[in-house]
Amino acid sequence: MDYDRFIEEQIREIREQVGTDLAINALSGGVDSSVVTALGHRALRDRLLTYFVDNALMREGEPERVVKNFAKMGIPVQRIDAREEFLEALRGLTDPEEKRQAITDTFYAKVFRRLVKESGAKFLLQGTILTDIEETVAGIKRQHNILAQLGIDPEKVYGYQVLEPLKTLRKDGVREVARQLGLPPTITERIPFPGPALATRIVGEITEERLRTVRQATAIVEDALQGTGAFQYFAVLLQDRATGIREGKREFGQIIVIRCIESTDARLATVTELPWAILHGMARQILQIPGVNRVLYDLTPKPPATVEYI
Ligand code: XMP
Repeated sequence: MDYDRFIEEQIREIREQVGTDLAINALSGGVDSSVVTALGHRALRDRLLTYFVDNALMREGEPERVVKNFAKMGIPVQRIDAREEFLEALRGLTDPEEKRQAITDTFYAKVFRRLVKESGAKFLLQGTILTDIEETVAGIKRQHNILAQLGIDPEKVYGYQVLEPLKTLRKDGVREVARQLGLPPTITERIPFPGPALATRIVGEITEERLRTVRQATAIVEDALQGTGAFQYFAVLLQDRATGIREGKREFGQIIVIRCIESTDARLATVTELPWAILHGMARQILQIPGVNRVLYDLTPKPPATVEYI
């Protein structure tokens, strides 16, 4: 594929569609939304307003890091604090699809509708990729960013049009476009991180306390595995609890799963054969997190498992 031509075509199309109007987009810092931000910025300059929506589900230090990295590239990003809104929408929910739905609704119908209204934008640029569309249409999983393919007309429902310049690409193609656009390796080689963020790594209810636990475990796993070259790695907090002993007393504790996979485009995945020393090192650190008394390594390929837990 000729990626230079792809970039030129997408820039031209964004310009044509948006015309003299304003567009907005949400940047999560992942490769998909970063590429959309860079393409949109090239096409529209200051007629693209880029927001980082802090949904309370981000990893340690992520909001600050993303805003700073784009500032270095001359692309201004405004941070929107929507933490309370998302936590409120997720309160009491345990069903995976209901949690995804709550995140989608809060994002599009509340936060984005408000931002569109305030800014006067008519278009939303979004980093939907081919795999997102295929899996949603096949009924495997409702990706957070799929609307039109499910028969939802965003203009009618939310009051804005959605442009999806990456919808013909898979992850490897998006990374190639990112390299061609000159984005730094911290973005182009970044491991995938899903839009619903840490919500996909909490089985059961999402609370601030449970987010803190999975956030700490995530930092440990990412730090330990970043040198492995694995496709994706993360920590998951289960809903079940297990009996343990701490300081001579019985404890009914939390269970953390470590997942580390090899894949090319996340459609199929195998489990990484991690050395025992690395696994033990992570377990030792994760067991220091308050309330956690078990650490497991997930041995399941995709299929039958999906990569994420919700
Ligand atoms: P699954 O769990 O579907 O994950 O096997 C495949 C790849 O997609 C990522 N993923 C998502 N990315 N929004 C995203 O932007 C989502 O809703 C979502 N769900 C899963 C996952 O991290 C993996 O790389």
